[in-house]
Amino acid sequence: MTRIVVLISGRGSNMQAIVDAGIAGADVVAVISNRGDAAGLVFARERGIDTRIVDHKQFADRAAFDTALAATIDTFSPDLVVLAGFMRVLTDPFVLRYQGRLLNIHPSLLPAFSGLDTHRRAIEAGVRVHGATVHLVTPRLDAGPIVAQAVVPVLPGDDPAALAARVLREEHRLYPQVVRWFVEGRVAVDERGGVRVRGEGRSEQTMCVPQVDAG
Ligand code: GRF
Repeated sequence: MTRIVVLISGRGSNMQAIVDAGIAGADVVAVISNRGDAAGLVFARERGIDTRIVDHKQFADRAAFDTALAATIDTFSPDLVVLAGFMRVLTDPFVLRYQGRLLNIHPSLLPAFSGLDTHRRAIEAGVRVHGATVHLVTPRLDAGPIVAQAVVPVLPGDDPAALAARVLREEHRLYPQVVRWFVEGRVAVDERGGVRVRGEGRSEQTMCVPQVDAG
């Protein structure tokens, strides 16, 4: 069994998608939030998943928070730590502790639009495609090796909320797929630092393009 700990800060819809995917060989053993009011905690509790709150406001600095967070995570002995809308910048020691088993989803086609407010910035830039990226986490923010991306069109008249909703639908396909690959032991970092998914054609399978309705 691959033991998975998911970190959230809010809604937790990606965490729900991963839980609901019922990935064979995977066990979501805990959901940890830095906010006690994160809606995703309710879902996790209803599913009988252990939850913990590590409130960043209780700590003097990032280092102290990350130390406490890691201590809480480690009580669950995870094989994989999944950041799913976890809105804290993590310190290098934290990232290095979980390197190779720490995934994040970012709502843009990285390296474009790292950071916050990605959907508004994509619309303002006039890009025709946008999407989401699942990557391994390294100390440089939003810059770790890309595992897979999901692409959506930016349509005339889109506002950030409409675009965010289109991207989120694809996130819910993409993230469980990547977690499944990880659980199957198929995610490998090659000699150039890029990710290879063993047994998947690179362009067809590590890029999700939304199904377009005919007619
Ligand atoms: C998602 O758009 C994710 O890409 C970003 O934060 C959002 C979290 O949504 N990192 P949810 O909490 O998973 O619903």
